[in-house]
Amino acid sequence: MVPASVAFIDPATDFTDGLRVLYAYHESFILQGQRLLAMAEAISQQGVGEETAAEAVRLTAYYEGTTRLHHQDEERALFPFIVNKSFLTDGMIERLALDHEEIDAHWAKLNEVLRAPEQIADPAQLLALTARFEKHLRTHIERENLDFFPVLEKMLSPDQLAGIGQRMARLRE
Ligand SMILES: [Fe+2]
Ligand SMILES: [Fe+2]
Repeated sequence: MVPASVAFIDPATDFTDGLRVLYAYHESFILQGQRLLAMAEAISQQGVGEETAAEAVRLTAYYEGTTRLHHQDEERALFPFIVNKSFLTDGMIERLALDHEEIDAHWAKLNEVLRAPEQIADPAQLLALTARFEKHLRTHIERENLDFFPVLEKMLSPDQLAGIGQRMARLRE
């Protein structure tokens, strides 16, 4: 029996450093992205079974919770803290916020299909939507990890990173 929904588990448990929270999410996204692709691949080859349907329900709960919380952490706890500090970071923030809108739009399309796995009629469409979402999210994470976070590590003091972590914890209350 496939559960209709499962509880969301926050990938971050330690909020003493805001950047560490974001890195924890990035690691989790990369890992779950692999599982998402594997699930779509399995459905496209064998159709929807009990196991893949349960995995679809789990991943739907996961991405519904994580993409919303993670974008909120970045846009509401981090960006306001560093905006208007330099042209470089302001340009990055603008670009990253646009990415978030696109990732959310890709997820909304995939979510429509994934939330009712037993009704998946077009596995090719599922594969295409999954690949598009996973690639966009992964590319965005790589950009943040390689270009954005190293700049922040130089810019922010341990006290400021702790303050950003506290804001993130408050967003979950
Ligand atoms: Fe982001
Ligand atoms: Fe991120």
